[in-house]
Amino acid sequence: MAVPILELPIPQSAAATIAAIVDALKAAAGDPPKGRANFAKGRCVRGTYVPSDRAEEITRSLSFTKPSRVLARFSVDSSDANGADADNLALRGFGFRLGDRHHRSDILAQSAPVHFAKTLDQMLAFLKARSPGPDGNPDRERIKAFSAANPETLHQASYIAAHPLPRNFSGTTYWGVHSFPATNLAGETRFIKFKLAPVGADVAPAKSDVTANILDDDLEHRITSGDVRFSVMALLDRPGDPTTDVTIRWPDEDNREEVRLGTIVITGLEPDETCDASSFDPANLAEGIAHPPDEIFAARSAAYALSLAKRR
Ligand code: HEM
Repeated sequence: MAVPILELPIPQSAAATIAAIVDALKAAAGDPPKGRANFAKGRCVRGTYVPSDRAEEITRSLSFTKPSRVLARFSVDSSDANGADADNLALRGFGFRLGDRHHRSDILAQSAPVHFAKTLDQMLAFLKARSPGPDGNPDRERIKAFSAANPETLHQASYIAAHPLPRNFSGTTYWGVHSFPATNLAGETRFIKFKLAPVGADVAPAKSDVTANILDDDLEHRITSGDVRFSVMALLDRPGDPTTDVTIRWPDEDNREEVRLGTIVITGLEPDETCDASSFDPANLAEGIAHPPDEIFAARSAAYALSLAKRR
């Protein structure tokens, strides 16, 4: 399906909302002076990307059609960068950068296929509704009322509750969530969604909560045995798919035709400083993959830059 490629600048009015969202995320994480506003606990790693022989059918992006080194970070949506690993119902993140110096792309993916808000105003209101009151606890009635008025903000939590995660980063499936316009070698553009599908890892859900640092320890162990691999999948669009609402999946998304763009193999641990020195930037996409057309995506680059400035 041909799609127009629109890369709109952020409206001025959104800038204040973005700043307020970063503050609210940071406050929810306990205001760590040097920590990330979101996905604070994580592990920096390196690896390689090797394209499949079908990548060019989907995108001409040299990030995805050529082999390259990869810098990546596995993370947990934990409020404490030094705390225990979150439980098997906590959102996990997988951000990675691939491509050479002139054709870099950053993809940030998470362990749920939807985001919790459709617009920036809704995202800010969601976070505010959950902020602690004078007694230090969130107001349950306020959250209930917000959820009733904004039912789509529960889609992510419902997905997570129905899909407990395995006891490892390497067996977790991650989604890029947004609909990305992809242009192939023949110049045809269609929407794709990124899915990072584990290869050969134990994907069985953990029976109970995971304990302190089990995700980190497991990762170290599996990297040593060369066992952390992901297929980079492109889910293919169909006419009429919703491409601007990140709280809903495409119809029948789990049964979509998908093409493996390539494989990422994680080969070693990197010092935290390597990932902390900069930020993965969702807007950083080499030609051949364009910016998704939704409001949430348009805000992300500015939010990450703000967060980076605050934690420096
Ligand atoms: C589909 C939606 C989203 C996904 C999949 C996503 C995913 C992620 C991931 C994986 C990280 C960890 C990055 C790392 O390991 O370095 C992250 C961090 C972060 N996210 Fe998002 N995110 C989304 C939407 C947003 C939005 C809309 C905002 C704000 C407007 C936001 C604000 C942040 C911030 C401030 C950080 C910390 C960045 C840093 O300090 O480096 N995210 N996100």
